Amino acid sequence: MNRPFDLLVRNAGTLVTADGADRGSDEQMLAPIPRVAVGIEDAHVAWIGAEGDVPRGNVGPATKILDAGGGLIAPGFVDSHTHLVWAGDRSNEFALRSAGADYLSIARAGGGIASTVRAVREASDETLTTLALPRLQRLLAQGVTTAEVKSGYGLDAETELRMLRVIELLGTRQPIRLLRTFLWPHAMPPGSSDRAGFLARGQKVLREVARAGLARFADAFVEEGAFSQDEVRPFLEEARTLGLGLKLHVDQLRPGRGAEFAASLGALSADHLESVGTEGIDALAGAKVTAVLIPTATLVLRLPRYAPGRALVDAGVGVAIASNCNPGSAPTENLALAMSLACLQNGLTPAEALLGVTRRGGEALGDSSLGRLRVGGPADLVILGAPDADHLVAHVAISHVHAVVRAGRIVLRAEHNARC
Ligand code: NIG
Repeated sequence: MNRPFDLLVRNAGTLVTADGADRGSDEQMLAPIPRVAVGIEDAHVAWIGAEGDVPRGNVGPATKILDAGGGLIAPGFVDSHTHLVWAGDRSNEFALRSAGADYLSIARAGGGIASTVRAVREASDETLTTLALPRLQRLLAQGVTTAEVKSGYGLDAETELRMLRVIELLGTRQPIRLLRTFLWPHAMPPGSSDRAGFLARGQKVLREVARAGLARFADAFVEEGAFSQDEVRPFLEEARTLGLGLKLHVDQLRPGRGAEFAASLGALSADHLESVGTEGIDALAGAKVTAVLIPTATLVLRLPRYAPGRALVDAGVGVAIASNCNPGSAPTENLALAMSLACLQNGLTPAEALLGVTRRGGEALGDSSLGRLRVGGPADLVILGAPDADHLVAHVAISHVHAVVRAGRIVLRAEHNARC
């Protein structure tokens, strides 16, 4: 007799593997299969097949059965851009922006990133952990099984290293797989104007981060009001030499040829991109850099334009959608809202939005086993009370998540999310 599955997920209306051929259409890439079941062994997908073909020998008394209720099974969602470890509260900035202030003027007046930095420096590790756990719980309730999490609210050696260790600890305290990014050049630390000194210190800390394996990626905020390309190039080049993948905040507030910069560095992803131009789009396509769009931040910051998602996809760029969960520009874990906005404002199709939080999210993290369902791959999946991607995005900002499986374990059940 074959070894019994640890878990059998059955009674799916449709399963999307998000593992179709690379050059296919959005639907082909999603690769929907009707009425299938999924067998799981040792945290990995062991079998995917027709409901009527479940191998008898693989179902024993110890096999748990999870009924998908005729819903949609998708790979667990991958949120490829978050800043979800923070302390303090910047809700006042929402009111300031509603009254006409913009992101940079709030930052120049002492708010913005610097205000979170002050709060994070004062917070203990325990406080940072306690504050982050409910955010992760809300992300899980959105179907997220992998999230990238950045440092960048410490901006001194001690607090940045502390943030990375807190993220590591959070990875052991809840089910979502957390991948860490060292974001030193996020803003100038409060009260400091020695830019060269700050960036040189960043390279020293980077070596420690790499030596201790504290992060998989490095990132920089390249923008007027943050850092120039010339300023951050040495940090990013050294990060790349040390084996870290590069992810960049670019072309968010103003056009800055940041996409071209990301492409020239061979970055894994270029994030935000509201102001990217045609040449930047071509550069991303040519260098196979994933574009990470964050439409909730475009909305919250009331930016004049959304990133040109349609043009990016049409040019052959892989487009991921992320929550950007942070205390300022996107104080939300609502990936469902981000997916709907990606269709309404960035011009993606519903299928592309679903790819954006699955396969494309994995690619933005340099790992093509994430955000796909295939035999031998991680058993991270979400069951949705929706028949298809159209239904998911049409019900704006609603979580359809019925259940979440991470590494073969049922980690969330939300049966109340019946089909809307
Ligand atoms: O991705 N743009 C820079 N960083 C964050 C915002 C961080 C903050 O305002 O605290 C972002 O939008």
